[in-house]
Amino acid sequence: MIFEKICTFAINMSGKNTFFNNLEGLKGIISHKLIDWYHLNKRSLPWRETRDPYKIWISEIILQQTRVDQGLDYYLRFIARFPDVYALAQADEDEVLKSWQGLGYYSRARNLHEASRTIVDQYKGVFPSDYKDVLQLKGVGEYTAAAIVSFAWNQPYPTVDGNVFRFVSRLFAVSDPIDTLKGKRFFTELAHGLMDKDRPGLFNQAMMEFGALQCVPVSPECHVCPFADKCLAYEASQVENYPVKQNKVKTQDRYLYYFHILDGAYTYLKKRTEKGIWQNLYEFPVLESEVPLSFEDFSNNRIFQEIFPCQSNADFKLVVHKKKHVLSHRILFVDFYEVRLKKTIAYELPFLKIRNENLDNYPVHRLMQYYLEK
Ligand code: ADE
Repeated sequence: MIFEKICTFAINMSGKNTFFNNLEGLKGIISHKLIDWYHLNKRSLPWRETRDPYKIWISEIILQQTRVDQGLDYYLRFIARFPDVYALAQADEDEVLKSWQGLGYYSRARNLHEASRTIVDQYKGVFPSDYKDVLQLKGVGEYTAAAIVSFAWNQPYPTVDGNVFRFVSRLFAVSDPIDTLKGKRFFTELAHGLMDKDRPGLFNQAMMEFGALQCVPVSPECHVCPFADKCLAYEASQVENYPVKQNKVKTQDRYLYYFHILDGAYTYLKKRTEKGIWQNLYEFPVLESEVPLSFEDFSNNRIFQEIFPCQSNADFKLVVHKKKHVLSHRILFVDFYEVRLKKTIAYELPFLKIRNENLDNYPVHRLMQYYLEK
């Protein structure tokens, strides 16, 4: 329905652009042009050389919030360490998180681990091929399920990622916002209408690659684009105004103060058990605040006083100051203090006491890694 509607809209909008006058030919032309472009320009990537749904799944989860050049090394290491779903299901969560260290969005790794156990327990280790079953796996949304079933089994589900949104919204000059449920439905139906049903996997790869390499967000080289004489946004000199976003996400500032306690040969870590992006990762004792705190402010804080009941026993050195870390809903400003103790701590602390040389064995988030590498 949407597909027909948008084509009619495009015909009315297009004026002398005759491309949209022939609905029958439209899909065929898009598909041919795209796939020809893809064969000439595609990057050679290992997950494109396999039909193994396990490997495709791992690659898609890694690439959800990570650029291809960064994700490639992680993918190769992950597959070398966990070559199949059994290897992943049998691993400890700490080891899975460690292999994810530096990639961010750690719920992806926790979900992969949990889903691998579902596949082993519920499907006897055989990756489900039904779209609805794939969608039930922890951490798998519509995009990822479509990628897995179309790349592995050529099933006609469209992969509508940010690259596809951009390309399609420009080609048809669609101004529906892409960050609303309604907008997402609209683009998914449109992409489904456009899809080459004889080769959905190849078509999906080509759409995504075209958006990633040719129809880029800023300064796309439209003069060499195979759709230059067809694109409604280009015709209207509006390319960079698409896709349209409603942009309702509000960010909140948060201030974190970490304490790297040097207690002779030992230091202290805490596993972050509460729900959130860093769940089950390890970090130094930390104070968190919605407003910036001075050193005097700390001194009056109850948590701080529990860790350091006798302040004259400790030398505080500010090593990292106001390191900015941007997350989707938060902006973090982070300080790290190195705290050298004069006398060893004799009281109970609710932390893990570990030898300094073992720090490297624990999975930590990007900020901890930044500090440790310094
Ligand atoms: N981003 C998400 N999935 C991808 C894929 N299969 N190839 C390249 N980039 C991607």
